[in-house]
Amino acid sequence: MFKKKNLEKVKIRQATIDDINGILFVEKEAWGEKAATKEQFESRLKTFPQGVLVAIKDYDKIVGVVAVEKVNYSDIINNSSLNWYEVTDNGFIKNSHKPNGDSIYGVDLSVLPSAPCKTGTRLLENIAKLCIARNLKYGVLGGRIPDYHKFADKMSVDEYVKATVKTKNGIKPLDPEINFYKKADLKIVKIMPDYFNDSESLNYGVLLVWENPFYNKWYRWLGARIFKIG
Ligand SMILES: CC(C)(COP(=O)(O)OP(=O)(O)OC[C@H]1O[C@@H](n2cnc3c(N)ncnc32)[C@H](O)[C@@H]1OP(=O)(O)O)[C@@H](O)C(=O)NCCC(=O)NCCS
Repeated sequence: MFKKKNLEKVKIRQATIDDINGILFVEKEAWGEKAATKEQFESRLKTFPQGVLVAIKDYDKIVGVVAVEKVNYSDIINNSSLNWYEVTDNGFIKNSHKPNGDSIYGVDLSVLPSAPCKTGTRLLENIAKLCIARNLKYGVLGGRIPDYHKFADKMSVDEYVKATVKTKNGIKPLDPEINFYKKADLKIVKIMPDYFNDSESLNYGVLLVWENPFYNKWYRWLGARIFKIG
């Protein structure tokens, strides 16, 4: 697997419409032909501008982007056929974003392969900060399982999402993205067939949830500081 050694720091900030070309470049590098379009990002920025964050290196180079919307957690968890297209209004969020929703849902997370280490993690941490600042219950997203196609003839998808490998630093999930999300403290709630058109994951997605430990706590104003983010 490709290992990045770049240990530079990135800065995270809210995106603006002027970032669109940099965002589209990251999208293309991370997703190839499945990259989000200019129209989708313009709509995300217009609908929920606070929900699009970019990771910046060297003052002005965009190396990562995350986009989220607000939803009601009960609508997500009770939807037995949840899929990315429906839950994100085909990536436009215009008709899926619920301004008074109680939780955050991940629409897009993309990082340049050459970005500094932990860029994706920093973007997720800042989404957690957004949840804390807005007193939202959960951060939720549908993750990919991009290595499943290599193991599908050996194990079921349920076995695969629980499978681990031994490394010199201990045991970690077999799938690199499950590893990434578990390290960020997200928990797998369920496996979703036909979640997203992704041949590597055989179209499966995993519903991942982060529970805001500061939700409705009197000391929530302290949360963003305690939570080693920012
Ligand atoms: C998934 C993604 C956002 C991770 O961002 P990142 O900045 O590389 O991640 P971080 O540096 O914060 O974390 C590194 C961990 O990510 C994991 N990881 C996830 N996807 C990976 C990939 N394709 N290649 C290598 N490592 C990957 C590794 O397991 C690594 O853990 P390790 O340190 O134990 O080896 C990025 O690889 C990406 O944009 N992928 C393509 C688009 C995508 O799949 N987005 C998520 C949609 S659900």
